[in-house]
Amino acid sequence: MTAAADRAAVTPEASAALQVHIRRGAAVAAFMVPRRANQTVLDVVTEIQRDQDPTLAYRFACRVGMCGSCGMTVNGRPRWTCRTRVAAVAPDGVLTLEPLRNLPVVKDLAVDMEPFFEKWRRAHGYFEPGENPPDDFATVEPESPARQEVDAGIECINCGVCYAACDLVTWNPDYLGPAALNRAWTLVNDVRDRDGAGRLAAVAGDAGCHSCHSHMSCTEHCPKGLSPTFSIAGLKRETGKAALRRFWRRG
Ligand code: SF4
Ligand code: SF4
Ligand code: FES
Repeated sequence: MTAAADRAAVTPEASAALQVHIRRGAAVAAFMVPRRANQTVLDVVTEIQRDQDPTLAYRFACRVGMCGSCGMTVNGRPRWTCRTRVAAVAPDGVLTLEPLRNLPVVKDLAVDMEPFFEKWRRAHGYFEPGENPPDDFATVEPESPARQEVDAGIECINCGVCYAACDLVTWNPDYLGPAALNRAWTLVNDVRDRDGAGRLAAVAGDAGCHSCHSHMSCTEHCPKGLSPTFSIAGLKRETGKAALRRFWRRG
């Protein structure tokens, strides 16, 4: 039995095979792929790369919605592809795949995530324990308001889907973007962290939270159901309060 035959069964509607168009630089390549039961978009790309064109570049790791590496533009919309079923997004049997928007393309469907993660660094999206962190574990009540705020944004898998969905990143490539700001908000609410003031200053600048137009595209597209828009609203509030505190101290 061939490797292809060994995979999931071809569905009865296989006669209406899937037409796949893949952006490869300036060109678009066309492929035909059998429709299979419970087929995901990532399955389709993998089948093309294994059986039809081994030079096709794309990225994935976990295949179960954890690593955040399989983001692509699927029929015009940014998505994680390992958990996107073909039947849900291509009922007419036509699939157009492009790399994620707002990031440099390395090759075909693989983008360079460095600018995305650089913005996490700029937003202080890393835990700061302070110079003398306590030896003991911190006690954080699950029901406390700060912990609830953290819970709302902590499940981010760094997939970049929200970043690709944000028009503001397209218009202003310097803008920190929804994921970095969402991460900053979880850390602002982390009672163990010691960089609250520094982080608020880092996200308050021209390319930070106050630039956000709150149009919710990031929130609509996040595959984990997070709401960077609300996290950014929290940052707007807290950076505003920090500015007032500075003003009254000077006065
Ligand atoms: S709400 Fe803000 S961060 Fe989200 S997509 Fe709109 S402008 Fe971008
Ligand atoms: S906020 Fe959602 S869409 Fe954005 S990087 Fe995190 S998991 Fe992906
Ligand atoms: S391959 Fe890991 S999230 Fe899709």
